[in-house]
Amino acid sequence: MPASPASTVPADPAPTGTQAPAGRVAWAHDAPRFVGFTVLWAFPERGVRHSLFSLVLLPEAQGKGIGTAVTRFVLEHAFVHLYMHRISLAVFEGNDAALAVYRKCGFVEEGRIRKVNWFAGQWKDEINMGILVEDWTEMKKAAGI
Ligand SMILES: CC(C)(COP(=O)(O)OP(=O)(O)OC[C@H]1O[C@@H](n2cnc3c(N)ncnc32)[C@H](O)[C@@H]1OP(=O)(O)O)[C@@H](O)C(=O)NCCC(=O)NCCS
Repeated sequence: MPASPASTVPADPAPTGTQAPAGRVAWAHDAPRFVGFTVLWAFPERGVRHSLFSLVLLPEAQGKGIGTAVTRFVLEHAFVHLYMHRISLAVFEGNDAALAVYRKCGFVEEGRIRKVNWFAGQWKDEINMGILVEDWTEMKKAAGI
């Protein structure tokens, strides 16, 4: 039986030489059309194994499950192939579709920067979210994947 992706996650700390290069970028396609982009910005320092994630889809590509699929793909890539230990992101208060996607994919709220963004006549908080490799592994195990 082939090893599950979760079982390929290396023990902590990562062996020397497994640090991911900074600025890994992937493009999200609904072939053959370009629909948006996603970025996984990996810090190159030895022992960090932490990346920042962002995702933007064109309006016509939103609400079709692409954001969820891309987020899950990037998490799997980051944890299994890039040996990341945590992924972080920031989302503005009121971006309920983004919050729904990130929560569904296992991100949890870790903090807030209060009233940092002026939008639609109001100050909005920046919500900081993160997921650890152990959260992701546990989530996959619970889902039987
Ligand atoms: C945020 C974004 C990446 C989400 O991707 P997407 O493909 O539209 O999302 P999905 O279709 O996979 O899922 C959307 C989820 O949000 C939910 N949702 C949508 N609008 C919502 C709202 N107003 N309140 C609560 N949930 C909402 C949907 O029900 C769906 O959840 P479900 O599948 O459990 O029903 C995309 O909409 C986008 O690029 N937006 C503009 C840029 C942006 O805000 N990027 C994020 C910056 S942090």
